[in-house]
Amino acid sequence: MATDKQFKKELQNGRMIESTEEMTDGYKKALKQILLVSGDTELMSAPAYYDQSLNAPSLDARASCISVIQDELGHGHIAYRLLEDLGEDREELIYGREPHEFRNTYGFDQHIDNFAELVTAHGLFDRAGITLLGDVHENTSYAPWKRALTKVSKEEQFHLRHGETWMRRLANNSEKTREMLQDAVDWMFPIGVEWFGLPDDKKKHDEQLEYRIKGKSNDELRQDWLSRSMPFLTELDLDVPAHYDEEQEKYVLEYDMPIAFDADNKEWRYDEQISWDDVIDRWRGRGPANEKYVNLIQSGTVEVEV
Ligand SMILES: [Fe+2]
Ligand SMILES: [Fe+2]
Repeated sequence: MATDKQFKKELQNGRMIESTEEMTDGYKKALKQILLVSGDTELMSAPAYYDQSLNAPSLDARASCISVIQDELGHGHIAYRLLEDLGEDREELIYGREPHEFRNTYGFDQHIDNFAELVTAHGLFDRAGITLLGDVHENTSYAPWKRALTKVSKEEQFHLRHGETWMRRLANNSEKTREMLQDAVDWMFPIGVEWFGLPDDKKKHDEQLEYRIKGKSNDELRQDWLSRSMPFLTELDLDVPAHYDEEQEKYVLEYDMPIAFDADNKEWRYDEQISWDDVIDRWRGRGPANEKYVNLIQSGTVEVEV
């Protein structure tokens, strides 16, 4: 087999990978890492969305919410199925791990306490998912994942549309629903910003990029998410700590990342600057709903396998 350096070069030149026999150990490790984060994030979005889906304000809305959950379980299943091809045990991954061993994005360790938060999660977090997976779909060197993401991408567009439709309704319905929506955006927007991880200048090297498992850097993806989310949030006249900077020709935050988050009260402390190591500790320590959500999955209350 070629050296890893040569292998990376071939991947950058467009080589596609179909099976484990073609991978170096480094490639396999990097692929497993991103697939696990992806699978866990998809799976844990299901219990996160569950309670408030049952509280949706109409039968129609409830049906849409439940079908989103069903999709998310399917998306998790796809990632775990791909991990199985790489030698992992799917049953063990879903049922055999402790809650703190899950690698889902921090956003799905939070309690979603009302319908406004649920639809904002669809509008902002599903958008983050689309941004990340859209990049993988377009650019990845791993052919089986690329093929599987065709179905996932279509379904994610539906989740996003559902979220944005309801966010618009809540914004225009009454002062009360508008306030609930703004409260949801207040804590969820910075979580969306953090979703894309460390800034590029803090990341020494990125194996997933070097192996072209994904195509865009964290900052590029964050900017993509901002450039798609911001016009919508601005149209709804919601307050967010970011704006378009004409000079730099990009969206900029009105605070310096990273900042402290009071997870129990869902409040960002804009005056409390922390380090990225602190953020990683917060993520690794998991958020307040982590155990509840993993238990919900593992107890079989939500059907995991179709
Ligand atoms: Fe999904
Ligand atoms: Fe989704």
